[in-house]
Amino acid sequence: MTTPDAWRILHTARLNKGTAFTEAERERLGITGLLPDGVEGLDTQLLRMRAHLEAKPTSLEKYIYLSELQDRNEHLFYSLLRSDLPAYMPLVYTPTVGEACQRFGHIMRRPKGLYISMRRKGRVAEILRNWPERDVRFIVVTDGERILGLGDLGVCGMGIPVGKLALYTACAGVPPEACLPVVLDVGTNNESFLADPLYPGARHLRVAGDEYFDFVDEFVEAVQEVFPRACIQFEDFTNKTAIPLLERYRDRVCCFNDDIQGTASVAVAGLFGAARMMGSAMRDHRYLFFGAGSAAVGIADLICMQLMREGLPEGDARARCWFMNSKGLITSASPGLADYQQRYAHPFAGGSAATLIEAVRAVRPSVLIGVSTVAKAFSEEVIREMASLNRRPVIFPYSNPTSRSECTAEEAIQWSGGRAIFASGSPFPPLHHDGRLFVPGQGNNVYIYPAVGLAVYATGARRVTDEMFLVAAEALAERVTDQDLDVGLIYPPMSGIVETSSFLAARVARLIVERGLATEQSAIDGVEHMEELIHRVQYDPHYPSMLG
Ligand code: NAI
Repeated sequence: MTTPDAWRILHTARLNKGTAFTEAERERLGITGLLPDGVEGLDTQLLRMRAHLEAKPTSLEKYIYLSELQDRNEHLFYSLLRSDLPAYMPLVYTPTVGEACQRFGHIMRRPKGLYISMRRKGRVAEILRNWPERDVRFIVVTDGERILGLGDLGVCGMGIPVGKLALYTACAGVPPEACLPVVLDVGTNNESFLADPLYPGARHLRVAGDEYFDFVDEFVEAVQEVFPRACIQFEDFTNKTAIPLLERYRDRVCCFNDDIQGTASVAVAGLFGAARMMGSAMRDHRYLFFGAGSAAVGIADLICMQLMREGLPEGDARARCWFMNSKGLITSASPGLADYQQRYAHPFAGGSAATLIEAVRAVRPSVLIGVSTVAKAFSEEVIREMASLNRRPVIFPYSNPTSRSECTAEEAIQWSGGRAIFASGSPFPPLHHDGRLFVPGQGNNVYIYPAVGLAVYATGARRVTDEMFLVAAEALAERVTDQDLDVGLIYPPMSGIVETSSFLAARVARLIVERGLATEQSAIDGVEHMEELIHRVQYDPHYPSMLG
């Protein structure tokens, strides 16, 4: 007889196998007749899913379909993603997730994750306890204020934690039941959302100042109480809050900020690749950042950590990094600098350098990194100047989305006479120059955070440190083959992301153990190699037997 429990199994995404329930399982669970007679394997189900997806006319429709599949049959959702991650990642995350967040109030079906609004102040722990899973190990949290390059999307930013966590599972195998997406709803300053009857969040302007920070404090403390083994990933906060929040919590709880530390790691991995291409070390270079916000400070701090490992004293390492903001080159004479910018404000004898070309001429960098959101800022004149200063100029326009990129791959390669070493935040297609093939690399954070997350999960790390991101960068650079370098590619191909993530996770896990930060001691004692530990805890998107 069909019991409410059997019905629940069919309608619970984590348990449901759909037509893949075997005859014996159907009999045992009492669901015979609730499905068509044919018993199908995962491969047949995947065929059907791909056909459904192909019939959807737009990326947004495909996003909605995939989101519903995740609610219906979780194993099938992850099997589908795993079957072709380079093709499906852009549908569950950037760029499609940007549009999904903008349209969130209009396209939402079943809610995912936890919404914690200011109205619940004083009750945050209670709200966390409403989540059905007890052993949450990863929380991706946003306040929706700086969603990708799209600005304040308020509660509609939920698409970001949901998408990011899906990639933790799809790319690295962090078990989905360990993951919790959270939005802190502190209001929105997005006027069109506030005027939209379908906006689903709290309808007031953003709360700021002490009231805001007290609320985040309550959230962080409540997580320690309700999910003491959880790592908190801060995501898509503006630099006004992201940098202070990271400073406030990084030494007190297990947390990190992917926009700062993940970005830094993937950029430094690219710099390791570039240095390998040139037969140099990172200490041999001078770095100019166009843009002086959270991404810039994260990358510069990690570069300095590496330069110090290469033997430079801290002051000398910092002196290799120069920042430029909208007012020009940042120097020790620049007024009104934020604390984090002060450490990259150096004495400068040359008067002022208000424009990028002036800054390039003054600093004479070998590496130019764009994190400004200013499209086309790396002009022909700037790239030609970099190419006249350097045999192999390193040009990294990292701003997203593509429309904000400081230059295209084609421009960098063409204007440097094919000599630029190039990587970007947004993807660019392969191109030919002078009969040679160039494959532009994309410094996508997805190379890093799922792997670091898996290592933290496997070892039960008590803290997340910058050193973990540096080791992840080093490991990522090792995955680049000589054949990749031959075509100008300084990141490994995305098609191997699952193997790459496992490799990185094992390296980071080893560091966590060496630094005494691990808490899963018995699991660690039970394995000979970290690879084995990683493999043991990884989620496998295949159906388990329901006959046990
Ligand atoms: P942010 O808002 O903290 O910093 C932007 C900086 O650019 C600020 O210092 C601002 O003063 C500066 N800026 C603005 N206009 C300028 C101008 N005309 N000239 C010189 N500087 C100017 O933003 P954040 O988080 O640092 O991100 C910057 C960019 O990097 C974004 O486009 C973001 O999408 C991208 N990014 C890319 C990542 C990746 O591809 N892996 C990861 C993280 C960020």
